[in-house]
Amino acid sequence: MEEKIRISFFDAKEYDKDSFNLANTDDMFEIKFFDTKLSEDTYKLAAGSDVVCIFVNDEVNKEVIDGLIQSGVKLIALRCAGYNNVDIEYAFGKIHIVNVPAYSPYAVAEHAMALLLTSIRRIHKAYIRTKDFNFSLNGLTGFDLHGKTIGVVGTGKIGRIFIDICRGFGMHVIAYDKFPAQDSGITYVTLEELWERSDIISFHCPLTDENKHMVNSDTIKKMKKGVVLLNTSRGALIDSEALLEGIKIRQIGAACLDVYEEESDVFFHDFSGHIVADDTLARLISMPNVIVTSHQAFLTKEALTNIADTTCSNIEIFFKEGRCSNEVCYKCTKLGNCKQEHKEKCF
Ligand code: NAI
Repeated sequence: MEEKIRISFFDAKEYDKDSFNLANTDDMFEIKFFDTKLSEDTYKLAAGSDVVCIFVNDEVNKEVIDGLIQSGVKLIALRCAGYNNVDIEYAFGKIHIVNVPAYSPYAVAEHAMALLLTSIRRIHKAYIRTKDFNFSLNGLTGFDLHGKTIGVVGTGKIGRIFIDICRGFGMHVIAYDKFPAQDSGITYVTLEELWERSDIISFHCPLTDENKHMVNSDTIKKMKKGVVLLNTSRGALIDSEALLEGIKIRQIGAACLDVYEEESDVFFHDFSGHIVADDTLARLISMPNVIVTSHQAFLTKEALTNIADTTCSNIEIFFKEGRCSNEVCYKCTKLGNCKQEHKEKCF
């Protein structure tokens, strides 16, 4: 009998266990699920494994990479698209990394629109009122999306689907992308122009060293008074303290956040009945015009199935063929335009 591929699965949730056990029906993998995140304190749990499977908030720095290699791990399998939590530059030439480049761009784009509609039509307020048999409409006045200008930052898979949804609402779409898509019919503008012209701004680009805190006190000043910010991308694109200040001085009309820059110790956990130590998050949540969901945009049945199937297939192909078309490598990604369709291994 062929030996099974051993996977240490970090930050495992019940829905992960269900979808990965289903994807492993051929019993090709021996999966050890750990509730804890991968970090300098926990990497030793992976000793004897071939693969670590991780998600958005596992921390893979130099120490963790060295520790994993010493423990015999050959592959880091991200069960997500983004890899800002992995030191890919340090990993290059040492350990291979694969990701799931797309699992359901519709899930994230639709969640962004759900947040926007909830916020501007005050659905979150109305839901609580009618549960308490309060049928008053005072304070629930919203505004039409039709005719409004939306600025989309990042026009990849998710951004483009979101643009299509916005066009369905009769909105004017302008966009900024570091690598604009040719012949896409999208109206690209500079970031400056996007800040100045947009009634609503939605973020769909990866987090990089370059765009960390692209929303800060300076850029907020350039935005239209009452602008609505939507972030379903990565928390650190927005400076949270600057956002709070912008809300307090009424420059920002509303914020819908599925991601938060300090989310890793809080999101995905139940803190009801506890005191949350993060004052910035607590103040944001206390604002009537801020909606927070805890990195939930990806969470649909379709996405979970695709994540599990693609991750398992990435691992199988990597060990059978020694390479995988979903490999993430510093050499290729720093160019920004690599299709990652390697004929050979990245290193
Ligand atoms: P994608 O790779 O298809 O598109 C990203 C786009 O951003 C590309 O067009 C790229 O050229 C552009 N871009 C790169 N650097 C940029 C910069 N500095 N400024 C502006 N644009 C830039 O990625 P996809 O699948 O559309 O995902 C977008 C982001 O959504 C991911 O990076 C991730 O952070 C986030 N995401 C969030 C999820 C959630 O559950 N909240 C789930 C999945 C992804």
